[in-house]
Amino acid sequence: MTGHSNPIGPRLLALGAIAALPLTLAACELGPKQSQQLGPRGPAMEQVTNLNLVKPPAAPPASAYALTSRDGQKAREVYPELQVLGDISVDEFGLLMANMTAWVVPADAPPEQAGCNYCHNPENMASYEKYTKSVALNMLKMTQNINVNWQSHVKQTGVTCYTCHRGKGIPEYSWSLKPEPVSRGMTGYRAGQNEPLAVVGYSSLPNDPNGTFFLEPNEIRVNSKQIHPNGENPADIKAAERTYGLMMRVSGALGVNCTFCHNTQNFAEWTHSRVQKQTAWFGIRMVRQANSDYIQPLASVFPAKGWDGQARLGPLGDPLKVNCQTCHQGYSKPLGGVSMLADNPSLREVWRAGAPAPAPTPVAVIAAGAVATPTGVAVAKVVATGAAAEAVVAKADAVRDAMAPATN
Ligand code: HEC
Ligand code: HEC
Ligand code: HEC
Ligand code: HEC
Repeated sequence: MTGHSNPIGPRLLALGAIAALPLTLAACELGPKQSQQLGPRGPAMEQVTNLNLVKPPAAPPASAYALTSRDGQKAREVYPELQVLGDISVDEFGLLMANMTAWVVPADAPPEQAGCNYCHNPENMASYEKYTKSVALNMLKMTQNINVNWQSHVKQTGVTCYTCHRGKGIPEYSWSLKPEPVSRGMTGYRAGQNEPLAVVGYSSLPNDPNGTFFLEPNEIRVNSKQIHPNGENPADIKAAERTYGLMMRVSGALGVNCTFCHNTQNFAEWTHSRVQKQTAWFGIRMVRQANSDYIQPLASVFPAKGWDGQARLGPLGDPLKVNCQTCHQGYSKPLGGVSMLADNPSLREVWRAGAPAPAPTPVAVIAAGAVATPTGVAVAKVVATGAAAEAVVAKADAVRDAMAPATN
C-alpha cells in the first residue's frame, strides 16, 4: 500500500501533486461571490454565494381560484365515503381537488390519466381502483401531519403537494434503498466510499446517506466530549465518515455552507450553533417519519412502473422516498419561503372519518424567547411537548439529550 522502502515513492508523489494542480484549481468556482456574515464577529460563520449559480426561486402556481369563505355544506354530507377531507365545505373540497390536480398531475399525461382521471375513474369518483388515489389519500395524511405536527420545522409556512411534486407525478428528487454493494476483492465492503457521487459533493465519503439516516434513526455523531476514550461515544471512524457524507448532502440540498448551521469551532455544540441547526434537527426526524410511517407502507400499493414507464419502486422493491432535497431543491427555504396554505387551509388540519381527531399536540416547539449564550450567539430554547414529543425524544439517546440545549 504505502511504498515503505521504495525511494521513488515520495518523488512520484510530488510529481503527482504538481500534475494535479490544474485539477485542484479547476474545482474552484469562477464568478462573482457574495459573502454574508451569519454568526457573531470572530468565528467566520459566513455564507459564500456564487452569484452566477444562484437564481431566485420560481414563483409557485396561483390557486385555481381564491378561497373566499370556509362556510357552507360539509363535503361529507355530499360524499359520505370521505376519509380525510369530510369536514370542510364542498366548495373548499372542490378547490383542493383542482389545486391537487395542478400540483401533481403532469400536463402531458395521456387522456386516460389527464386531470382528475389521474386518480379517479370518472364513472365512479368514490372508487379506489386507481392506485394513485390510494397513494394520494396517504399523501394527504402525510402533508397534514407535517403541517400540524412538525411546525418545529415548517413553521407557519407549511407545505403542500406542490412543495415536493412541482407538477410531476413523481417528485424530481426522491430516493430508494440501494442494494448492498458487491465486495470487490481485497478492498472488501467499502460502505459506498471512493465512488464519488454528487450527493456527497463528489467527495470519497460514504455515498448513501439516504438509507442510513433518512429512514433509520441512526446516530449522527462524531465528537467525544472528553479527551480520552471512555466508552461514552460509540461512533467509530465509519460512523464519522457517514456523518460527514450526510452533512454534504444536507448542505447541497439547501444550497448553503456548513456555517449556515454550525460554528465550525465545535460542530457538536448546540449553544454555539445557529438556530437553523435545531430546525434541521427536527427536519431530519420529520423526514424519517414521513418515510417510515407514510411512504414505506405504500410498497404494496405502487406498481413497479407507472403509465409513463418510470419506476415507482426501487431495485429492492421499496417506494421512492423523501429527503431534504425533495422539498428544498437548493434553497434554504423551499420555494423561497412562500406559503401556499392560505387557499388550502385544510392541509393544516386533521379530520378522520368516524373519529374526529383530538386537538393536535405539537411534536415539539421552539419556545419564543431566545437564550443568550456566553459567545453572544442567541439560540432559542428547545422545548418538546406532548406524548409525540416524548416518543421523538426517547429515540434520541441519552448522549444526544445531554447535547441539546434544553437545560439552558
Ligand atoms: C392526485 C389524486 C387526485 C386527483 C388528481 C383528484 N382527486 Fe379527487 N380525490 C382524491 C382522493 C384521495 C379523494 C378521497 C379524499 C378523502 O377521502 O378525504 C378524492 C375524492 C374525490 C371526490 C369524492 C368522491 C366520493 O364520492 O367519495 C370527488 C367528487 C373528487 N375527488 C373530485 C375530483 C375532481 C373533480 C378532480 C379534478 C379537478 C379530482 N378529484 C382530482 C384524489 C384525487
Ligand atoms: C414530502 C414530499 C411529498 C409531498 C408533500 C407529497 N408527496 Fe406525493 N409523492 C412523494 C414521493 C417521493 C412520491 C413517489 C413515490 C414512488 O413513486 O414510489 C409521491 C407519489 C405520489 C403519487 C403517485 C404518482 C404516480 O404517478 O405514481 C401521487 C398520486 C401523489 N404522490 C399525490 C400527492 C398529493 C395529492 C399530495 C398532497 C396532498 C402529495 N402527493 C404530497 C412525495 C410527496
Ligand atoms: C442545515 C443545517 C446543517 C448544515 C448546513 C450542516 N450541518 Fe452538520 N449537523 C446539523 C445537525 C442538525 C446535526 C445534529 C444531527 C443530530 O443530532 O441528529 C449536525 C451534526 C454534525 C456533526 C456531528 C457533531 C457531533 O455531535 O458529533 C458534524 C461533525 C457536522 N454536523 C459537520 C458538518 C459539516 C462538515 C457540514 C458542511 C459540509 C455541516 N455539518 C453542515 C446541521 C447541519
Ligand atoms: C416536507 C418539506 C421539507 C423537507 C422534506 C425538509 N424541509 Fe426544511 N423547511 C421546509 C419549509 C417549508 C421551511 C421554511 C420554514 C419557514 O418558513 O421558516 C424549511 C426550513 C428549513 C430550515 C431553516 C432555513 C432558514 O433560512 O432559516 C432549515 C435549516 C431546514 N429547513 C433544513 C432541512 C433539512 C436539513 C432537511 C432534511 C433533513 C429538511 N429541511 C427537509 C420544508 C421541508
